Amino acid sequence: MSLKDCYNFEDFRRLAKKNLPAPIFHYIDGGSDDETTLKRNTESFLKCDLVPNILASVGEPDLSTTVFGQKIDMPLFLAPTAMQRLYHHDGDKASARAAEKFGTFYSMSTMATSSIEEIANVASGPKMFQLYIHKDQGLTDNLIDRCKTAGFKSLCLTVDTVVAGNRERDHKWGFTTPPKLTLKSIMSFAMHPKWAFNYLTNKKFELANVSHWTKKGSSIAKGVMEYINEQYDPAMSWKDAEYVVKKWGGPFALKGVMSVEDAKKAIDIGASAILLSNHGGRQLDGSRSPFDQLPAIKEAVGDKLEIILDGGIRRGTHVLKALSLGATACSFGKGFLFALGAGGQAGVEQILKRMREEIRRDMILLGCKSIKELNSSKIAYR
Ligand code: LAC
Repeated sequence: MSLKDCYNFEDFRRLAKKNLPAPIFHYIDGGSDDETTLKRNTESFLKCDLVPNILASVGEPDLSTTVFGQKIDMPLFLAPTAMQRLYHHDGDKASARAAEKFGTFYSMSTMATSSIEEIANVASGPKMFQLYIHKDQGLTDNLIDRCKTAGFKSLCLTVDTVVAGNRERDHKWGFTTPPKLTLKSIMSFAMHPKWAFNYLTNKKFELANVSHWTKKGSSIAKGVMEYINEQYDPAMSWKDAEYVVKKWGGPFALKGVMSVEDAKKAIDIGASAILLSNHGGRQLDGSRSPFDQLPAIKEAVGDKLEIILDGGIRRGTHVLKALSLGATACSFGKGFLFALGAGGQAGVEQILKRMREEIRRDMILLGCKSIKELNSSKIAYR
């Protein structure tokens, strides 16, 4: 199997599984507890159907939308995800360059393995930075200041990960960062010599945005859950979010909002967007899917907030269903990470190409000339 055989999410996932040592594949693939929310995120798109209009003279549809004050060429972008250097030795550079080629957002995680400055130097497309609030306030300030200097135009604050979800696959496979050779993992690393060679011969693994501040988790092998629980502030509050909004002063999203009440509060503190997300089913298992929650959130916030639907996106039709119910755009994590593991920058470009083709084709089949024409009349519930 090679990249040319990859048409959809499952194909990229299968190739990534072949390429990556098992602890790393399962870190991407897994969710928390029984993974019910992880599964539901995608299943919930099946609860309703698209209703096309015919003879709409669509011609070539316009897939562009505006989010965080920037026009993007397609309504899907790369969600912030940690430690991309583990999935391919080019890591964030590969995904940032691929996103730029498709005129859409690349998002950088606080836990990225490339630094804010490195990525600003290699990719000039739309970029968002994802912030975690550390117990050490100085680090938060430092990250925000560096984003401004490096020309990142939008920022999101993750609010659903004040403690780590219970990712049992990480325990079972002995996943640590940097990867540690344990009895459990050693076989899997030995069975992926190409990955191991590239890992060992390329730039050393580090959490590049924070390694100057804390050595914990950046050079010492540690579980991700352990890192989150040690470093992030479990007492984070609305006051902290408000502080970030003010200090940043630009387009800002809370990432991980699920309740109507919290979406309204996001408006009150000056957010311009929310990422309607349950962290890809990796945090509170048993929580609602973003797509199920979308109509209630849209009704409550109207046009006062941009809504980015994040979670479970596998197909262009999922994006179109979300946009029809009021999302401004969608983002995906696992979708592009498997593609990164499958083939680096070429892999991410290929999944974006496939998704763009699906969205374009399905807009023509739906009878929509532009994203604005997608509305609830296109949706029927079973
Ligand atoms: C995760 C964090 C690091 O989901 O975003 O693993």
